[in-house]
Amino acid sequence: MEKILKNRKILVTGGAGFIGSNLIESLLLNGNQVTCLDNFSTGKRENLKGFIDNPDFRLIEGDIRNISDCETAVRDIDIVFHEAALGSVPRSIKDPVTSTDVNIGGFVKILFAAKEAKVKRFVYAASSSTYGDHPDLPKVEDKIGAPLSPYAITKYVNELFATNFSKSYGIDVIGLRYFNVYGKRQDPDGAYAAVIPKFLKMLIRHEIPLINGDGSVSRDFTYVKNVVQANHLAGITENKAALNQVYNVAHGERTTLNQLFFYLREFAGKYDSSILTVEPVYGPDRAGDIQHSLASIDKASKLLGYKPTHNVVEGLEEYVKWFITNM
Ligand SMILES: NC(=O)c1ccc[n+]([C@@H]2O[C@H](COP(=O)([O-])OP(=O)(O)OC[C@H]3O[C@@H](n4cnc5c(N)ncnc54)[C@H](O)[C@@H]3O)[C@@H](O)[C@H]2O)c1
Repeated sequence: MEKILKNRKILVTGGAGFIGSNLIESLLLNGNQVTCLDNFSTGKRENLKGFIDNPDFRLIEGDIRNISDCETAVRDIDIVFHEAALGSVPRSIKDPVTSTDVNIGGFVKILFAAKEAKVKRFVYAASSSTYGDHPDLPKVEDKIGAPLSPYAITKYVNELFATNFSKSYGIDVIGLRYFNVYGKRQDPDGAYAAVIPKFLKMLIRHEIPLINGDGSVSRDFTYVKNVVQANHLAGITENKAALNQVYNVAHGERTTLNQLFFYLREFAGKYDSSILTVEPVYGPDRAGDIQHSLASIDKASKLLGYKPTHNVVEGLEEYVKWFITNM
């Protein structure tokens, strides 16, 4: 990673979550002062374990839906990295009211508080779900379809608000459309767990993973270190053309669920060879899912200098090692 944020005052919302905690760890390593605003709804205190006692770290237990929590969190901050949201397409289908409340209502409150406090830059987690039913592959930023879930709607509305705020009030915003992120500290448990930690935990316990559909669904699985790099670049760029834009953040390669299962089994099998005999079962397709997803990362590469360091095989191998050592 060439360009790294240093010596800044930074707020990470959702910092007790998977991506937020990885970002905070990297920001603290590079001499930044970091405030975390989190309500621990899906985040965990144990995700903060590595830096909770760091004098450059400050935790605010609060809610982005509460304007006074937002005002406290943005005070004296240079850059906001907004990661707090309720993730998961199925969660948003089951409970669109809470997902909308947090992902749109909370977004507007933290963005408004940041603008009022004259924060210079607001970088936020957008999502590949915004491509909806658009058929083109690879996905390019300016061609989106109709959203397929309440979650996708909320993430698209975030982009609309961010663009509007940058035009109306002059705050610099950058949206990062993450594609299926995985890596250390991602929650393997619960009804809304992402496929990679969930399958890995099952494999280690010799349980049989259920693949939705026939396993040909494909995704651009993105290692969290690539996502952290993109955030540093978005926070640091001084290229005017790079501001007030959204970017795909991915590796730019497609992996089917079947391939993913076999990679995970192969890497976990290095630690326990009996895992190599576990076979998946197949079930119905999942509501709100698209068949294939693949990002063009040309825009982030050209305007931000983004260059992913880990492809899917490298990322998965490193992640499996971490999981087996730490879980
Ligand atoms: N993980 C992915 O593959 C992926 C893909 C695309 C976009 N994203 C986006 O990236 C961001 C981070 O995702 P993640 O995977 O780390 O999820 P996560 O659930 O691990 O982290 C989200 C964090 O936000 C906190 N939070 C939720 N509601 C809050 C509220 N009202 N007030 C304060 N804090 C609140 C949670 O407690 C949690 O710590 C989210 O905005 C998500 O939509 C993630």
